[in-house]
Amino acid sequence: MHQVLKALMTMLPDCEDMLVENIVRPFHLSDDDYKKIMDLMLESFNKGLGKESNETARVKMFPTYVRAVPDGTEEGDFLALDLGGTNFRVLLINLKGQEVTMESKIYLIPQHIMLGTGIQLFDHIAECIFKFMKENCLLEKNLPLGFTFSFPCKQKGLNKAFLSTWTKGFKCEGVEGNDIVKLLHEAIERRGDMHVECLAVINDTVGALMSCAHSDRNCALGLILGTGTNACYIEELPCVELWDEDMEDPNFVLINTEWGAFGDDGALDFIKTDYDKHVDKHSINTGRQIYEKMISGMYMGEIVRLVLEKLRRHGLLFQGKGSEELSTRGRFYTKYVSEIESDVDDGFKNTKQVFDELCIDHFTEEDCRIAQYVCSLVSTRAAYLASAGIACLLNKMNRPEVTVGVDGSLYRFHPHFHDLMMEKIQQLLNPGLKFKLMLSHDGSGKGAALVAAVANRLNAEKKLKAQKKQTDNCANSEECCQASAQSQR
Ligand code: GLC
Repeated sequence: MHQVLKALMTMLPDCEDMLVENIVRPFHLSDDDYKKIMDLMLESFNKGLGKESNETARVKMFPTYVRAVPDGTEEGDFLALDLGGTNFRVLLINLKGQEVTMESKIYLIPQHIMLGTGIQLFDHIAECIFKFMKENCLLEKNLPLGFTFSFPCKQKGLNKAFLSTWTKGFKCEGVEGNDIVKLLHEAIERRGDMHVECLAVINDTVGALMSCAHSDRNCALGLILGTGTNACYIEELPCVELWDEDMEDPNFVLINTEWGAFGDDGALDFIKTDYDKHVDKHSINTGRQIYEKMISGMYMGEIVRLVLEKLRRHGLLFQGKGSEELSTRGRFYTKYVSEIESDVDDGFKNTKQVFDELCIDHFTEEDCRIAQYVCSLVSTRAAYLASAGIACLLNKMNRPEVTVGVDGSLYRFHPHFHDLMMEKIQQLLNPGLKFKLMLSHDGSGKGAALVAAVANRLNAEKKLKAQKKQTDNCANSEECCQASAQSQR
């Protein structure tokens, strides 16, 4: 009897491991799964780019009207706005060749405004701009402004952007289907106490690409891994059937893929876990942004929490005893995933701190190990899924060397995201192609200023051209007059 008990005791951890493994198995995806995802993504991207198919496509592949990357000659003072998460930033940026200096201030967007009306949102934004300009003695100036608005927009010009649908927890009434530049200008006019003209609206992915392209000419792809996820890339005009503007040089345009919506047509159902389904069901945009919900920071913590709760309920964690905090939706923050995975051989310092914050009283080192394992499975799947998207775009672009400009809190703060992506992209990439992942510094601010600067330069060039044409016309008509006067003589 004694012998049997002993054997059982030594088998127990393995047996427990197997039970844990059963619960987390759906997060392990095979190479074939990732290859299949790439094929499906390519199909989705092409559907979005097609004139006929775009209407029903879930991944919208919006042309951005950004057709020039900075060349380092951009100069001057610019205002930039950055709206895309819970914070709103106003920035003052000075560009002088490669030198960029900036002042910025963060303003909170309260939950009631995120879920209120469009008028409230844009009045709030205008008020923040006013406060910022006042503090920085800018009210007398007439500064060009670039707006990083990180939501899916159908653009009809560089400063004409119609919101197609809210994402990431925003739902302000009366904005979808409307031009956000118009809404911003109207709010500024309602106040009547400042001169600001928005020259360009960009997505944060475009900002990441622009800010990296400023120093690396190979940068042709922008990626965000933060509250949400999305990518943009340089596409050749003949592939963009939706493009109905002139086909003049340059023959490319940046495409904002809005890849977060990949899977909204069921394409990802074959890898969806019960945890993903639960997160989707309890979100404010059920059925939408399926790929984003498997990857980005707004959802990752919650996926981990659901798995931990299931393990606990099965008595495989914390001896079955959790806490009110652990049972509360949204209470396991994504930053915990990064913190827990940052513990290396130091007695699970961060993990224990997280358990303390969640008011979990009794835990063992084994609990710490399991929690760390769950975090790593969920974040690895996210990193590999994002890698499949990047590899798909790199293969599609087929350029020998591409730098990917990356920004976002998940990529920035997670200890292994970069390395996981490097490894997986390499594995999925067509032979002979090379790539780099470059951290973008303050893309949303700098990128918006750079695009506004380019727009400003192009506007000035246009004005000059028009003036020249007028003087040429005048000169011609004078010559004409003289010629006809002479012929009359
Ligand atoms: C969401 C938005 C997208 C943005 C991304 C990252 O997916 O729809 O526009 O780029 O989040 O912030």
